[in-house]
Parts: sequence; structure tokens; C-alpha cells
Amino acid sequence: MLEEEIERLKKERDAVILAHNYTRGEVQDVADHTGDSLELARLATEVDASVIVFCGVYFMAETAAILNPSKTVLIPDPSAGCPMADMITGDQLRELKAKHPGAVAVCYVNSTAEVKAECDICVTSGNAEKVMATIPRDREIIFVPDRHLGSHVSALEGREYVLWPGYCPTHARLTAKAIADARAQYPGAPVLVHPECPKDVRDVADERLSTGGMCRYARESSAGTIIVGTETGILHRLRKENPSKLFVPAGDRMVCPNMKKTTLENLAASLREMKTRVSVPEETAAKARRAIDAMLAV
Ligand code: 13P
Ligand code: SF4
Repeated sequence: MLEEEIERLKKERDAVILAHNYTRGEVQDVADHTGDSLELARLATEVDASVIVFCGVYFMAETAAILNPSKTVLIPDPSAGCPMADMITGDQLRELKAKHPGAVAVCYVNSTAEVKAECDICVTSGNAEKVMATIPRDREIIFVPDRHLGSHVSALEGREYVLWPGYCPTHARLTAKAIADARAQYPGAPVLVHPECPKDVRDVADERLSTGGMCRYARESSAGTIIVGTETGILHRLRKENPSKLFVPAGDRMVCPNMKKTTLENLAASLREMKTRVSVPEETAAKARRAIDAMLAV
């Protein structure tokens, strides 16, 4: 059984397995911890193991590597990228910064190490409002790469940001019509959506939450049925933690192919062959670390 082999190899390698809430259910089940981007970034700084196997997408493993230069960080399939993170390059950000001298550069954690290295501070969907509130009101703000998370927080804060036009192709597939249909089918059920969703979708939802926020909401809510507007991998965890509640996906095409690239097979192979190691050149890592640490300090 692959699960048993993974368990054995984990001990032999002194490894810990971290999995994002969107990964396959069977991968979440063998992980030591599952969480959202913020929870996993924090955990990466707290675990004692000498090896971190990161089940998620590349920028997440890269963030863990930046925070732990002395640890071995492995990703089972290095081709698991995030199309949103790849929508802005370091050069494009440098050009944008040159057009807005003196602006505070903020990046969503869904960004490459090179982009983080150009930024003053990072945010995740779980802490964006709190982090943005630390930036003085008289400063201009550049926010990359997600225009949807950026516009969501900018509206909450009541100030304009210079937004980069990036977006998540998976969340862009959710429509206000799909939410209306789900509400018609499950009257009274609260609708949770991720802030990466487009504005018209966010506007018709009851809550806009990170995946960790959705897990907390599900635990604390008295609702028996909850409509979930994000990548469908999270349904596994929601159902496992709340067996008496019904979780309904808001849309039927909400799958991030990259989050599904980690399988039990490549996870076992990763531990067996100690591959693929994620590392970031120290000069870039040192600059990116400043932006991530500034976020973690808030
Ligand atoms: P969170 O789990 O931090 O809410 O992020 C969602 C996401 O798209 C990660 O790629
Ligand atoms: Fe990137 Fe969207 Fe997939 Fe998250 S769900 S990894 S933002 S493409």
C-alpha cells in the first residue's frame, strides 16, 4: 500500500508532509497538516523535521524553501505551477514600480520568488485586510498579481490600489448565475466564495473567505447546508471535519489542474528518491524573505 510506504519513508527521511486544502483527498489524508497558504507558510517555519514535502503548487513550496534555507523542501511534481503567479514577471513589476516611484509594492503570496523579492510586503487571502491596514493611508499602493483579491481588499479599505490584471483561471469560471442556481436549489444555505472570484460573484455571496476561513466557518456555523465557491478539493476536508453537514459546490468546473498533480504515487516517489528539491538563489531568497517576514509579523 502506498499509504504505508509513505508513512515508513516519512519516518526514515525525518520528513513532514504539508498539503494545501485543494489537493486530492487521498493526499490530504496522508499529510501531517493541511491548510491554506497562510497556515502552511506559518507551519513551514514551525516544524522540526529536516525535510518538508510540499503538496500544493510551486510558489508554496518556494515560500517554504525561502523561510527555511537550512531544510530540504521537496515538491512531488515540480510542474505544478500557478498560472496566476506566472501572470507577472520581475521585469514587469520593476517597470510598474518605476512608473509609481515611492509606492508600497504588495504581492499576493501566489507569486514567484522573483516577484516577492521586488515587494515590500506579502499578503494571503487569509490576512490581506489586516496586512493592508498597516500601510499608511498617504502611501500609494501597487498590488500584484491578483486583481480580484486586490479590488476586494481595496473596497474594504476604501482606498484605491494600482492593480495588476492577473487572475486565477479556476476561480474566474465561477459565475453569479451558478450562485443563483445553487441558492434556488438549496434555499437558505449560506454561500462562501474565495476572494479570488470575480466581483459580480463576490457581490452575491454571503462570505468572502480564504480556504482556512471556510473551514472555520463550517465548524462554527449552525447551517446544515453550505454552498462552497472555490476549488473543489476543499470539499474533502469540509466533509471529513463536518460529517453531519452538506457541502455543495457552487460551480461544476472549479478544479485547479495543478493542485491535482500531486498523487500518492509521485508523493511516495518524492520521499523515496528525495526529489524534486526546491531552492531559491540566496540573493533572491533574502529579499523575498523580508516581504514574507513583514507579513508574518503582522
Ligand atoms: P488560500 O488557501 O490561502 O485561501 O488560497 C487559495 C489559493 O488559490 C491557493 O492557490
Ligand atoms: Fe493558482 Fe488558482 Fe490554482 Fe490557486 S487555484 S493555485 S490561484 S490557479
